[in-house]
Amino acid sequence: MSEQPDADATIEARLHEQDYFRPPAKFVGQANASDPDIYDEVGEFPDGFEQYAELLDWDERWDEVFDGSNPPFFEWFVGGKLNASYNCVDRHLDERKNQTALLWEGSDGEQENITYQDLHRRVNEMAAALRSQGVEEDDVVTVHLPMVPALPITMLACARIGAPHSVVFAGFSASALAERVDSADSDYVVTIDGYYRRGEFLDHIEKTDEALEEMDRDPQVLAWSRHEEPSDEVSDDYTDVESLLDEHERERVEPVSRDAEDPLFLMYTSGTTGKPKGCQHRTGGYLAYVAATSKNVLDIKPGDTYWCAADIGWITGHSYIVYGPLALGTTSVMYEDTPDHPHKGRIWEIAERYDVDIFHTSPTAVRMFMKWGPEYPEEYDFDFRHMTTVGEPIQPEAWLWYYKHIGDEDAVIVDTWWQTETGGHLITNLPALEDMKPGSAGKACPGIEPALVDDGGEKLEPASGKAGNLIIERPWPSMLQTVYGNDERFISTYWEDFSDTDSDDWTDWNYKAGDGAVQAQDGYWRILGRLDDVMNVAGHRLGTMELESAVAEVEKVAEAAVAAREDAEKGEVPDVYVVVREGVEETDAVKEEIVAAVEDEIGKFARPANVIFVDDLPKTRSGKIMRRLLENISNEQELGDTTTLRDPSVPEQIRDQMHGD
Ligand code: WTA
Repeated sequence: MSEQPDADATIEARLHEQDYFRPPAKFVGQANASDPDIYDEVGEFPDGFEQYAELLDWDERWDEVFDGSNPPFFEWFVGGKLNASYNCVDRHLDERKNQTALLWEGSDGEQENITYQDLHRRVNEMAAALRSQGVEEDDVVTVHLPMVPALPITMLACARIGAPHSVVFAGFSASALAERVDSADSDYVVTIDGYYRRGEFLDHIEKTDEALEEMDRDPQVLAWSRHEEPSDEVSDDYTDVESLLDEHERERVEPVSRDAEDPLFLMYTSGTTGKPKGCQHRTGGYLAYVAATSKNVLDIKPGDTYWCAADIGWITGHSYIVYGPLALGTTSVMYEDTPDHPHKGRIWEIAERYDVDIFHTSPTAVRMFMKWGPEYPEEYDFDFRHMTTVGEPIQPEAWLWYYKHIGDEDAVIVDTWWQTETGGHLITNLPALEDMKPGSAGKACPGIEPALVDDGGEKLEPASGKAGNLIIERPWPSMLQTVYGNDERFISTYWEDFSDTDSDDWTDWNYKAGDGAVQAQDGYWRILGRLDDVMNVAGHRLGTMELESAVAEVEKVAEAAVAAREDAEKGEVPDVYVVVREGVEETDAVKEEIVAAVEDEIGKFARPANVIFVDDLPKTRSGKIMRRLLENISNEQELGDTTTLRDPSVPEQIRDQMHGD
């Protein structure tokens, strides 16, 4: 069993209860989920989840809803067959071929309005193009694309031919890309020459060029072009996607009928070790669950214009820009570049232009909008019916600002808690059925059974108001299948701490979320944040160990530890504590080298906020670094118990050095 942090000592539930806000009557009257019986119906385990699967078109209906005979390798909709691309594209053609599926806005105001008919043509051509390059069913295709239509088109093309995609966020560095290609045994990389960031054309292909030098595999590279012609930077060794598409113009590719349990995609995410893990998601259970939550939680209807302003390179974009919304046949907006380019009103300008009904963003973005001030949204005429936050806890203050200045006190807000691993929302209100409570994610989704346990695995009383480790007691259809290629890691990371791993009865198995939480008397859940060495930087999940291994690449560094510092805007930022090697001078140049190493190994978005030189790191007698003490120092909190340290004076020295006496 891995070491468990002490929940009581590490999480402080210094929270006061907030008022409730009722959903507006006009919302309730039109909501998709307006009958409270949904909780009981879906909660009938496991058959209740059949109504989720029934939202999809199946080639063959399942024989069994759930097979729990080999825990924790659960199976869903066993024997069923379907294709995700068919469900997101083809099946909408009869009713709404001329409706917009994807509305894309580029950096300079360039627009693309892709109807379901267009999407069908483009996905088919790309599927044919991939096949022509040898991509076969079950080959993992690594997709390193930014927020351009090529990204969802490539994903859906992969799904069409049964090739699981592994999308690597465009902001990841060459090294991070190389690691993920190797880890996924991927023989294909799909990328693009460049894209726009703050109005500048960014060379993106260079990351693939460099990654190829670093990786063990030798994948074939397919390169899209951001403009009609590929930029001069693109190597002749790569296959030009645009010409390939010309060769396959108007070709049709029959969607491959996939077993419900066949993988749809991998999504790498940070954990507690230096190596990111490939969360493997199944086709049937995943698509059913994200379609159902898009319908019930996000209240998406085909006639809506829905905008999740996240990046498709993370799980939020997979589930709630691409798969969920398109499975429901709605219009999903996507945009390139940043919310402040070319001006700080960009988001609201887009919302007004397309008359967006449902808006989805992160608390980090809300805090940023709040800092910029209400005058930007006030300038535009938009009217959201529904708003979502995801990815981090939202402070009641930020929630209230969002409610007032963006929602005009007239929109519902859902605060959705979930993870890359969970595939879709697990804790959040069904907006017509529960009142909103700022700072609280709300109730468990239908059919989901969260609970809290102490560090010894003893269950806390429900709704006790005490903090504990969040677990999910019952399986659900969109849970990860495994960690790609590493079933042991799957078990050790998510199951072994709070399950009876000798049991073959699935009810003895509990999924460990890695988050701390409290459940208030009203049954609402408040998520307190990670209890393991994972931090959340502006909604991006980063592993402490990944950051530390990046820092360790710098030769001048003898030892380093990373701590999460609370940040008013980004939620958390990494502070790096460094002991330099004998004879190395502690200079700004060394600091810069360390920052550059993190940018090279992971990506610019992971850039440390501070690099702090210290003489020693706080360690236990057995030599384990006590990161939690460093976190207390970074956050100017009490040090707490230091008696188990080899040298209890170390943290105090560091604190004095940082904050003075
Ligand atoms: C955190 C993002 C509080 C949590 C979908 C979780 C949240 C991690 C919320 C997963 C929320 C996500 N309130 N915290 N509504 N949503 N988190 O895998 O710590 O990028 O474990 O998935 O984000 O991050 P991931």
